[in-house]
Amino acid sequence: MSYNLLKGKRGIIFGALNSESIAWKVAERAVEEGAQIVLTNTAVSLRLGEIKTLAEKCNAPIIAADATNIEEIEALVDKTLDYFGGKIDFVLHSIGMSPNVRKNIEYQDLNYAFLDKTLDISALSFHKVMQVLYKKQALAEWGSIVALSYIAAQRTFVGYNDMADAKALLESIARSFGAVFGRDFKVRVNTVSQSPTATTAGKGIKGMEGMLEFANALSPLGNADADNCADYCITLFSDLTRKVTMQNLYHDGGFSTMGLSEEVFKAFIAGKEK
Ligand SMILES: NC(=O)c1ccc[n+]([C@@H]2O[C@H](COP(=O)([O-])OP(=O)(O)OC[C@H]3O[C@@H](n4cnc5c(N)ncnc54)[C@H](O)[C@@H]3O)[C@@H](O)[C@H]2O)c1
Repeated sequence: MSYNLLKGKRGIIFGALNSESIAWKVAERAVEEGAQIVLTNTAVSLRLGEIKTLAEKCNAPIIAADATNIEEIEALVDKTLDYFGGKIDFVLHSIGMSPNVRKNIEYQDLNYAFLDKTLDISALSFHKVMQVLYKKQALAEWGSIVALSYIAAQRTFVGYNDMADAKALLESIARSFGAVFGRDFKVRVNTVSQSPTATTAGKGIKGMEGMLEFANALSPLGNADADNCADYCITLFSDLTRKVTMQNLYHDGGFSTMGLSEEVFKAFIAGKEK
C-alpha cells in the first residue's frame, strides 16, 4: 500500500545485491512511495547481474561505485546530481562485509589487514559517502541519511566478530556527522539497528540460523524482516521524521529491551533436562 510519503523525493540506495537484500526492499518501497532513485553497488556485485532486474522494476539507473573509494563516490554523486537535475533528498547506506567473518577467523585471532577492510567497508565508507555529499552540498534541506546497524554494537553477540566493532564505529560516525549535517544543511543522519535478517551478509554470520530463532523467541513482536525494515526506512526518509537525528533506532520487535521471555526460558530448561 502506498501513502505517497516520498512523492517528489530523490534518493541513492547503496547495497542492493539480490532480492533478499534489505536495500532491495527499500528501493522497491521508495519507488512505490513516489521516489525517484539511483541504485549503486560495487562493479563486482553488478556483474552478478541481479540488480538489473531491480533497476528495470524501479526504472532506475545503476551507477557502479566502491563505497571505500572517494573518487568513485565523487563520480557517483556527480552523475546522480546530473541525472536528477537537482539535489538528493535521501541516502541509504546498506553495506557490510568482514573478511574475518568470511574466513571463519575467531575474534581473538583477528587478522588486522582483514580488520582494516571490515572497518573500511562497513563503517568508514559511511563517513566517506557523507564527506563527498557534504563537500558537494549534494543534499537538499531536510534530507535524510540512514545506515543499517546491529545491536552487537552495544552488546556482545558471540560470532558477530569484528563486525561488532565496525557497527560501533558506524553508529558513532552517524552521531558525529549528524551534528555537522544538521547544523550546516538541516539534514538528518540516523542508524537503524535491525533484527537478524536472512540475507547474503546475514547468512555469513556464524550461528545465524540459531540467532534468528533465538531473537524471534525473545522479541515480543517477533523479528523484523527486510520488508518491515524497508517500511521503517521510508518513514525516516519522509517529511514525518524531520527532527529525528543522530539516533540509533532499534527496529527489532522489542529484542533490545528484553531480558528473558517465557519461550526462551522454557527452551533453555528443556535443553538442560534432555
Ligand atoms: N542481515 C542481517 O542480519 C542484518 C542485521 C542488521 C543489520 N544489517 C546490515 O544491513 C546492511 C545490508 O546488509 P544485508 O543484510 O541486506 O546483506 P547484503 O549482503 O544483501 O548487502 C550487503 C551489501 O554490501 C555491499 N558491499 C560490500 N562491499 C561494498 C563496497 N566496498 N562498496 C559498496 N557496497 C559494498 C554488497 O555488494 C551488498 O550489496 C549491512 O550494513 C548489514 O550489516 C544486516
